Amino acid sequence: MHIAVLAGDGIGQEIMSEALRVLDALGLPDMRMDHADVGGIAYKNHGHPLPQATLELAMAADAVLFGAVGDPDCDNLERHLRPEQAVLGLRQEMQTFANLRPAKAFAGLESLSALKPEIAGAIDLLILRELTGDIYFGEKGRRTTDTGLREGYDVMAYNEEEIARIARVAFKAAQGRRKKLCSVDKANVLQTSVLWREVVNEVAAEYSDVELSHMYVDNAAMQLVRNPGQFDVMLTGNIFGDILSDQASMCVGSIGLLASASLGTGTKGLYEPIHGSAPDIAGKGIANPLAMILSAAMMLRHSFDMEAQAARVEQAVADVLHQGILGHDLGGSASTREIGDAVVAQLASQA
Ligand code: IPM
Ligand code: MG
Repeated sequence: MHIAVLAGDGIGQEIMSEALRVLDALGLPDMRMDHADVGGIAYKNHGHPLPQATLELAMAADAVLFGAVGDPDCDNLERHLRPEQAVLGLRQEMQTFANLRPAKAFAGLESLSALKPEIAGAIDLLILRELTGDIYFGEKGRRTTDTGLREGYDVMAYNEEEIARIARVAFKAAQGRRKKLCSVDKANVLQTSVLWREVVNEVAAEYSDVELSHMYVDNAAMQLVRNPGQFDVMLTGNIFGDILSDQASMCVGSIGLLASASLGTGTKGLYEPIHGSAPDIAGKGIANPLAMILSAAMMLRHSFDMEAQAARVEQAVADVLHQGILGHDLGGSASTREIGDAVVAQLASQA
């Protein structure tokens, strides 16, 4: 098990330390970890947010554990030097086109949600976000209009192969769950979405046991707070999934709780919390490390076929929340370290 550890910026370092302690506590054999700079810190130390050495390490590893990138000091850099380009570059180079963002209510902790408890308690969904296409990776730039105005543009595009391969991942995921798939688009306005819907319908013929529905993204945003329990797997393009997954996190409780796995065709993956580097609280030791810890659990499951160990970590996290050990994001006062300690202690006490 060769893991590239890329903690990145802001709270990335703090939460990564706790995730590594949790992995350590599992006592797994033959784990090799190599650390490298990524994001703003990499720009400061090496002149690029995704230095060649970091990229090579990521490409050579079996899995990449990724903290967060983003640094206000870098806000005025040209786009290709901004910290965010590091994660986008990694996703593209590793061809991790399928991003899994599970959102599930913690039983008994519905009050953590921004929603009414009876609505929040029913959340058990998986956002399957396409990750290497869409408006993120289309042509973009600045130009001048005929009347001399500055104009920015970003092209949204998907080809049928890109849509079909993510759709297949989503249908398979649904087969392993409650067999319901809701494909999210904006087919009433966007050509990209018209093709998206067409191709998803074609792929559906291969998965007749899955119940497929389609929903416009604005309606999906509304339904996600009105009745999130209706969703099993939500299939989205890159930008819609980015937005809806932040929203889903607050439906569960906090953005500090949601993990993600980014996969390609093999078992290699990139694992990161869905939140960012939170520069406003960086260095204070108050960031919630649970999303990072849960991302490490997803790594055990998807890259190393260690379902039992992944489940142990997830159970320990749920237990810690039940004990009322809550971070600042959840209205509690536990520090990053205390939460990490509690998860490690919980693992030790498991039968
Ligand atoms: C996410 C983040 C990234 C994204 C940023 C940091 C580029 O918001 O993983 O959701 O937009 O994909
Ligand atoms: Mg996001």
